[in-house]
Amino acid sequence: MTETPPRVQREVVSFVRRSARMNPSQEKAWREHADWVIRVPKRLTSTSVASDAHVDWASVFGRDAPLVVEIGGGTGDVIAAVAAAHPQRDHVAFEVFEPAVASTLSKCARAGVANLRVVVANGVDALGTLIEDRSLAELWTFFPDPWHKKRHHKRRLVSRPFADLVAAKLADGGVWRLATDWADYASAMREVLDDHPVLVNRYNGWAPRWEDRPQSRYEAKGIAAGRTIYDLCYGIREGGRR
Ligand SMILES: C[S@@+](CC[C@H](N)C(=O)[O-])C[C@H]1O[C@@H](n2cnc3c(N)ncnc32)[C@H](O)[C@@H]1O
Repeated sequence: MTETPPRVQREVVSFVRRSARMNPSQEKAWREHADWVIRVPKRLTSTSVASDAHVDWASVFGRDAPLVVEIGGGTGDVIAAVAAAHPQRDHVAFEVFEPAVASTLSKCARAGVANLRVVVANGVDALGTLIEDRSLAELWTFFPDPWHKKRHHKRRLVSRPFADLVAAKLADGGVWRLATDWADYASAMREVLDDHPVLVNRYNGWAPRWEDRPQSRYEAKGIAAGRTIYDLCYGIREGGRR
């Protein structure tokens, strides 16, 4: 009798699986910059991160520098520009979609970036496992998937449990920058984050557009559709964590 394989308990994640087919220029970037992609052990799915996985970022980058993480950067419009403009910081992208990662590599190579690494993984897993507590100078979540339907809201990246994780990972003085073009998601973010015991809204309301942030593909789509862009920025509340 053949044994039935154990069922994999499906986690609620903020992304859907898509075809990982790359175009020729993405394939070329993927090959040429393979050393910028950090491979980590997985659990059950290809986007998961094993709970005992570890990356020593100082030895990966060969220096101790302020560490910036972006989750869901897509094709890398923001990280390529900002990493090039801030060579004194180290930048790590957690993105699940390989063709988008390949485009990020290609953009970074064109911009002459030397301070970027990428992990193809669920950023929630990766942030929890691969980043030390109280170590991050910045975390970015720009234009996360909006998951419009009410029954899909549980898939939204920005939620109270995720905020707890970010609050644990930011260094004192670290910042979490967010942006979205969906008014209801923006309000939901404010509701969760303004009430957070450890995080503090750095602007007591919507943040001004971060001047370093170039317009990304999804921001451009939102603007073309006539939507307002909401920026948010949170730090660590003084005395908020003991
Ligand atoms: C709507 S797109 C926005 C891309 C980019 N930030 C921009 O503004 O153009 C969302 C991106 O987040 C990625 N993503 C969604 N959930 C993720 C997760 N948990 N970890 C890593 N990447 C994720 C998707 O693959 C996609 O590339």
